[in-house]
Amino acid sequence: MTTVLTESKVCETPGCGAAAKLQCPTCIKLGIQGSYFCSQDCFKGSWKSHKVLHKLAQGLSPNDKEDYEPWPNYRFTGRLRPYPQGPKRIVPPHIPRPDYADHPEGVPLSEQAVRSSAQIRCLTDDEVEGMRLACKLGREVLDEAAAAIGIGVTTDEIDRVVHEACVERDCYPSPLNYYNFPRSCCTSINEVICHGIPDLRPLHDGDICNVDVTVYHRGFHGDLNETFLVGNVSPEAKKLVKVTSECLLRAINIVQPGEKYREVGNVIQKHAQAHGFSVVRSYCGHGIHKLFHTAPSIPHYAKNKAVGVMKPGHCFTIEPMISQGSWRDEMWPDKWTAVTVDGMLSAQFEHTLLVTENGCEVLTQRRERNGQFHFMDSAS
Ligand code: MF3
Ligand code: CO
Ligand code: CO
Repeated sequence: MTTVLTESKVCETPGCGAAAKLQCPTCIKLGIQGSYFCSQDCFKGSWKSHKVLHKLAQGLSPNDKEDYEPWPNYRFTGRLRPYPQGPKRIVPPHIPRPDYADHPEGVPLSEQAVRSSAQIRCLTDDEVEGMRLACKLGREVLDEAAAAIGIGVTTDEIDRVVHEACVERDCYPSPLNYYNFPRSCCTSINEVICHGIPDLRPLHDGDICNVDVTVYHRGFHGDLNETFLVGNVSPEAKKLVKVTSECLLRAINIVQPGEKYREVGNVIQKHAQAHGFSVVRSYCGHGIHKLFHTAPSIPHYAKNKAVGVMKPGHCFTIEPMISQGSWRDEMWPDKWTAVTVDGMLSAQFEHTLLVTENGCEVLTQRRERNGQFHFMDSAS
């Protein structure tokens, strides 16, 4: 560990945030950018995950997994384990950033200012155009991520593809630093319900992997996700993924002016239950525009008490999470990764929608590519 002079660098230890004055000597030798720490203690505390970067930089595989065990006392619900995370990613300063991007705790002050309000904004024509563009770019980014998925590919690599696809399109990847979320998208594998953190675990044959992309472009967020099949997936897992995508499509079909937000959950639970699956209750769809998450909150389960009626100009997501066993969730000690309590599989699909005069526009819908339509969804 050498002492070097740095301008306003921040310690790499997740959640530390202190000014960093020390740089890892091995990283300097290997030419790795970044790797600043505030103290010897933080450096030592991060060593197990940090040293993986040295292996990667030398073209070696990150096979340090054996001794990476960040929460020795946590009882995992399933077989998935956390892996070390890759190096921090930077968004070039010329790309417009949401307020939380530079807040030390990632707090979106603009969202908090209207947090208690149940009022749902009707977007102006200009705002609708802003949403159309952000959502179109979000779709392109997710499609790039989809093309990168395969056996042996790490979720960190998917995160890199998402990050670079965002930057190429003048988008800030909305998850990055949102309440200090450490990466540019969410990757949720197998028993992970949502908010999985991309890391150095390679995808396995038979995994199901959700990639959730949100981009921020010229002041508007576009949010979508899909669950992908990796290699040979069991028939039961395939059925879960298919039924989950059908739940989203059925919910979208009822979206029109005058419909109550609370109806969305009735349609979703009816279809999930008919196939023996359960609906996650802790995470909801949400209003989205200049704010990432705002009113309305839209539960995906039946007999919910969501308030409000759909009106032209409302913009929101529907993003059902459907599980094979229990609907109950718990959180990993990283405070992000939501998993099923029984370790069984969970799948999710998400679109951003605009209510129109006679129905809705699926702003994140997959478009025609190379003059050809994509007939099949990733789920089929
Ligand atoms: N994209 C997610 C959603 O659908 C939110 C991710 S927030 C993060 O609402 F901080 F976890 F990235
Ligand atoms: Co969302
Ligand atoms: Co999302």
